[in-house]
Amino acid sequence: MMRKKLVAGNWKMNGSLAQNRALLASLCQQLPILSCEVAVFPPFPYLSQASELLHGSSIRLGAQTLSEYREGAYTGEVAAGMLREVGCSYVLVGHSERRSLFAESDQAIARKFLAALASGLNPILCFGETLEERQAGVTLDVIKRQVLAVLACLDGGSWPQSAILAYEPVWAIGTGLTATPLQAQEVHAYVRSLLNQGGEEAGVAEVRILYGGSVRAKNARELFCQPDIDGGLIGGASLNVDEFLEICRAAT
Ligand code: 13P
Repeated sequence: MMRKKLVAGNWKMNGSLAQNRALLASLCQQLPILSCEVAVFPPFPYLSQASELLHGSSIRLGAQTLSEYREGAYTGEVAAGMLREVGCSYVLVGHSERRSLFAESDQAIARKFLAALASGLNPILCFGETLEERQAGVTLDVIKRQVLAVLACLDGGSWPQSAILAYEPVWAIGTGLTATPLQAQEVHAYVRSLLNQGGEEAGVAEVRILYGGSVRAKNARELFCQPDIDGGLIGGASLNVDEFLEICRAAT
């Protein structure tokens, strides 16, 4: 079983044409041949620009969310097929900022996940508990609810190998607090066992589970060493070339 690590940079609502050009040019120039996979997730208006700038590089492109609908009168929404057309291979689904600030429910997230799969995008399902939930001792219950809401909608209840998960404890996002490698590993191993529920699913050992939440160059290596942590979903540190490159190196 060899899972190739993935380092994914979620830019959130940051960037400009000029900043993106500088960041991606440095990344393409300085990214050595790595044994891990690297992807960036710019805001919608910059996807085409990023796609052009990344042409010929091994860095992959993803979007930060998508619509559950295929097309039509849905003002402000962006469909999976459009993301494919501008060169995305990945899309984040259910990021905690979407859940909390834009009221995305487990059910809506499941529909978006299915819409991504149906158009050939690889969804990255984000999940994670709040500080209150961790302190109340219900972390694994919350995570089970979030993951099963999607798993239950999948054909035969089996997780597709092309789909990825990302554990992002809400209390670790943008706070400088990171889950300890053992806290993260505990959740990752638990999630892998949830995916296995239908019995010994052959492919589950291949499914990648990323960790996100204040990953920095200084803490990436010990997180990525854990047996069930298959890379990282990086917010703030993905906007800094040196920091992001160092995290990529930590995944190799
Ligand atoms: P930070 O790395 O800034 O904590 O953000 C994590 C995140 O939300 C990535 O999706």
